[in-house]
Amino acid sequence: MKIDGQHYRSIWLDDKDDVSIIDQTRLPHEFKIRILHTADDAALAIRDMWVRGAPLIGATAAWGMALAMREDSSDTSLQQTAEKLLATRPTAVNLRWAIDTMLTRLGPLPQHERADAAQTAASEICDADVATNSQIGNHGKTIIETLWQQLQRPINILTHCNAGWLATVDWGTALAPIYKAHNAGIPVHVWADETRPRNQGASLTAWELKAHGVPHHVIVDNAGGHLMQHGEVDLCIVGSDRTTAAGDVCNKIGTYLKALAARDNGIPFYVALPGSTIDWTISDGLRDIPIEERDAREVTHIQGKLENGDISSVQLPPDGSPTRNPAFDVTPARLVSGLIMERGVCAATPAALAALYPEYASNEGK
Ligand code: MRU
Repeated sequence: MKIDGQHYRSIWLDDKDDVSIIDQTRLPHEFKIRILHTADDAALAIRDMWVRGAPLIGATAAWGMALAMREDSSDTSLQQTAEKLLATRPTAVNLRWAIDTMLTRLGPLPQHERADAAQTAASEICDADVATNSQIGNHGKTIIETLWQQLQRPINILTHCNAGWLATVDWGTALAPIYKAHNAGIPVHVWADETRPRNQGASLTAWELKAHGVPHHVIVDNAGGHLMQHGEVDLCIVGSDRTTAAGDVCNKIGTYLKALAARDNGIPFYVALPGSTIDWTISDGLRDIPIEERDAREVTHIQGKLENGDISSVQLPPDGSPTRNPAFDVTPARLVSGLIMERGVCAATPAALAALYPEYASNEGK
């Protein structure tokens, strides 16, 4: 997508062959590019959320493997790097998917071929992500277009967290249908949940939508239900960090509450995701998906721009109040109207997913 008329991806190889990323902890107030020199840098970027969003976490891990192979292409280095990267964030399964893909590609090769092959594989993972998300966008656009034809007015779409181009290599998942609809002249308006504690909606989704000229409002997380009750939401689209073979969806904390409110108000609740976000080894999201617990400071403090322009953080609760900070929750398949995927839109059921991905479905539930 474009920033000030210039096309960017969220991760790219620059003309010096350096792996570059946008530091998302500084957005929306500062646009800062960082270079990842080593696999340790890649692991840090994922853990400290300079990059985040399930597909981008996977892509960054792939580049982390490639950076390690530049230094040391031994079997030991391959395995240790994979383990190090896998330990960075537990919930998004795209991380495991990307690392497994790299291991499968690199493992059988002689050592001297691994550095070049790793670079090719990481580039291919990124290019495939862009193509996948573009397809998700096309399928999701049809849903928005159909609603527009029925309602003959701008379509109000609520989204949670950031599942836009910053969360992927390009296009996004939940935002891809919105960008495609907007680009096709279909009038859309987005309610962007601020998404405490890290406020990916207020900082990243709003920044992306503004840069692309998509009409939107940032709302506090508690406003969505009220807007739904008053007919101001036509459709919800969110992303996913891990979806089970049975269609349970794990996404940013608070997603479940939006799905409940949507169901109570008869509003379609769609989840947009690539096939790499499906964990075919599990079928019970509540039982089997590891939920990341993050630092208390994300709850006790909030970051923003001061009136003098400095970026700073301030404390909210009293000194010493204990906190809990689960970063994701699970929305059961029964609350999901449909899954928007690169191969099409399907029901959140084991049978529909198996029909769309027959090559993986044999592993379902194992
Ligand atoms: O903690 P984050 O910012 O990595 O969480 C991101 C989300 O929950 C996204 O909705 C999800 O990764 C889908 S991204 C296309």
